[in-house]
Amino acid sequence: APSPTAQIGVTGLAVMGSNIARNFARNGYSVAVHNRSIAKTDALIADHGGEGNFVRAETMADFAAALQRPRRALIMVQAGDATDAVIEEIAAVFEPGDIIIDGGNALYTDTIRREASLAERGLLFIGAGISGGEEGALLGPSIMPGGPAESYAAVGPMLEKVAAQVDGEPCCTHIGPDGSGHFVKMVHNGIEYADMQLIGEAYDLMRKALDMPVAEIGTVFKAWNDTELASYLIEITADVLAQVDAATGKPLVDVIVDEAGQKGTGRWTVKSALDLGIPVTGIAEAVFARALSSSRTQRDAAAGLAAGTLAPPPADAAAFIDDIRAALYASKVIAYAQGFDQISAGSREYGWNVNPGALATIWRGGCIIRAQFLNRIREAYQEHPELPSLLLAPYFRDAVESGIDSWRRVVATAATMGIPVPAFGSSLAYYDGLRAERLPAALTQGLRDYFGAHTYRRIDAEGSFHTLWSSDR
Ligand code: ATR
Repeated sequence: APSPTAQIGVTGLAVMGSNIARNFARNGYSVAVHNRSIAKTDALIADHGGEGNFVRAETMADFAAALQRPRRALIMVQAGDATDAVIEEIAAVFEPGDIIIDGGNALYTDTIRREASLAERGLLFIGAGISGGEEGALLGPSIMPGGPAESYAAVGPMLEKVAAQVDGEPCCTHIGPDGSGHFVKMVHNGIEYADMQLIGEAYDLMRKALDMPVAEIGTVFKAWNDTELASYLIEITADVLAQVDAATGKPLVDVIVDEAGQKGTGRWTVKSALDLGIPVTGIAEAVFARALSSSRTQRDAAAGLAAGTLAPPPADAAAFIDDIRAALYASKVIAYAQGFDQISAGSREYGWNVNPGALATIWRGGCIIRAQFLNRIREAYQEHPELPSLLLAPYFRDAVESGIDSWRRVVATAATMGIPVPAFGSSLAYYDGLRAERLPAALTQGLRDYFGAHTYRRIDAEGSFHTLWSSDR
């Protein structure tokens, strides 16, 4: 038999898998390529074989035989049962010391389970979150690998090479043990949900409060991309709003059904946040807003419900657009602050020791939420690694403080004009709740003690107290 030549293998050659295989080949690695059905493997080699050194593997045994030891295999199939099935097939032909990397969107608890069970068989495992969509996979994604340090040492340099590069630094770093990589990827997607919801609310306000044409709103987003909001999502919002439907001549956004889909990572983020007790209100509102949009039966039935007396539009449109920009930025800061809170809570819960500054660093390029302001987050954590909330970093505190009046005007105007802004509104409520000296939680405690003798603590004495509450005399 010829001696194995491939430095890495990719199995699962749908769009993401074949693009990342090409990315490895373009970076000079010899890549074994495998897919359950050989047609995708052959199509990849036929269409892109000239880009580098691919080794065609028809069976899993061929795949294993093609790989230099320790073998390195990247799995790019659907999360869930397919991933388990493929891991099993690979484990059957790999030997102790070989490395399996799951690059899919696995649930982090599955990754914890898989890492432990493969470790028992002497195999090394990495659960790597990969963000950036098709284009990122080909040209350089943001990669969030979690697993034992030994596994990272064996594949980290290759992953760092194919990742996006920002200011000479790769958008890939070892996140921590077992499920940490997929956990931070999950929260990344949750933040992406919040980011998109906030952008949607800003757009809706310009449409409904200011009656602006779609193209004009697109122009506003384009201009915003030259401000502190500069980011991939703001940039592509301008493109989406500029797109005209060839069939009708209308803005394309006006012929798209207004029901948002979801694949589940936003929902996972919120479920995990509930378990960890972390208020990720921006992300939760974004998940629920998608659910509301898809509640077709209720929406149709509710279409005639009263709006009450609505306020007139803001008198100064230009000033209101500027308020929306400030409200968007402040709400975005809240969404990230909440997401990073969840990451530090997850890190504490599972003992991962995730470095938030390093994470912000690898989110600056490649991924969907890449944005100028991740540089600010990175600086904030570099200065104060133990920051209790991003909101307390001087840069973010100042940014929110300088936008607060705009933020209140936007939320108030939306309420009086009957325009739903769940993410803007809940982010403001979170901010006001966090900074409040006293919260009505004292009353909640009183009620709990009244009906259930749950006891309460006093501000002026140690211990638990119970009152024999008297009913209305
Ligand atoms: P697409 O992006 O085309 O929708 P997909 O349906 O998500 O892709 O599937 C992604 C990859 O998972 C495919 O390569 C698929 O293999 P096939 O081309 O043979 O369908 C692979 N896949 C899905 N389930 C699998 C399983 N149980 N075992 C092995 N590979 C599987």
